[in-house]
Amino acid sequence: MAEIGTDIQRAKELLIQSNLVAIPTETVYGLAGNAFDTEAITEIFSVKNRPFFDPLIVHTDSIEKVKSFTKEIPKDALMLFQQFCPGPLTVLLPRNQKIPDLITSGLPNVAVRIPDHHLTRSLLEVLDFPLAAPSANPFGYISPTSASHVNDQLGEKIPYILDGGSCKVGIESTIVGFENNKAIVHRLGGMDLDLLKKYIKDIQVMEHSSSKPKAPGQLKSHYAPNKPFILGDLTDLIRAYTPEDIAILSFCETHPVIPQENQLILSRTGDLKEAAKNLFSALRKLDTLPVKAILAEEVPSVGLGLAINDRLRRAAAERR
Ligand code: TXA
Ligand code: MG
Repeated sequence: MAEIGTDIQRAKELLIQSNLVAIPTETVYGLAGNAFDTEAITEIFSVKNRPFFDPLIVHTDSIEKVKSFTKEIPKDALMLFQQFCPGPLTVLLPRNQKIPDLITSGLPNVAVRIPDHHLTRSLLEVLDFPLAAPSANPFGYISPTSASHVNDQLGEKIPYILDGGSCKVGIESTIVGFENNKAIVHRLGGMDLDLLKKYIKDIQVMEHSSSKPKAPGQLKSHYAPNKPFILGDLTDLIRAYTPEDIAILSFCETHPVIPQENQLILSRTGDLKEAAKNLFSALRKLDTLPVKAILAEEVPSVGLGLAINDRLRRAAAERR
């Protein structure tokens, strides 16, 4: 199993030697390696069992550093960084030659993020390279929101997990790109869309086809538990099953016919922020219960609810 701790110096030494370290962020834990080092990047793809067509996000701690590996930061992109970073936002920017092809799967843009977590910021401050980091889970499975989630699945494959507690946002960053000066959301995420719209009026949310995703986090089946996962109206769904055979994930209500231990509630007060924070650990917990299927319902489709429902639909999508 991996060593788990809060030693920035240890993490730094490992990263300098092309090793991988799992890092906490406010969204989910990342599997980090030196973004300028192709050996480390290749190892990221291998540990995650991730296809090379799925590009990686590059993490750093200041706008000045972003400038060092991009060709330019368009005006609106700079405004977003200034308003919302550090925070759960990733921006696509034209990369310069410092960023290896492997990181972007050959695309001209690199995804850049300034995460908001004190440990990871301290680490980034003492490194003279940025960190490439996808979510620290096997490809297609649920993203990790605690050090033990990472250790459960990748502990055998990586030397160190920087333990920053449980992630306060709980779902991945919102990804925004610019085409012909128009802002496009490539992935809904932890940055509330309504808040973004206050700063950029004309913003389009990309519809993705599952066969040709622009951001492969947008593959139809993703964030998926191993157990059958069925999304719909919980009261209707429950009627179709023997109560002992199922576990349920509800937004805010309990369902008396289901055994207590097989019910998880995202937020008893109906708070979407709390629901987002609890989502992935709830999915992981449900996946370990001795039941035949997991039933779930969507949350209200407003604000963060849009990103939560996106994850729930992908978790429920037909596996390929
Ligand atoms: O919150 C997050 O963004 C977390 C933490 C660790 O920062 N990271 C994360 O990374 O979710 P990952 O690799 O699991 O998801 C990154 C998504 C993928 O769907 C990928 O296709 C997309 O970002 N992406 C990366 N670079 C891209 C690029 N140049 N153009 C379009 N999409 C890109
Ligand atoms: Mg991921």
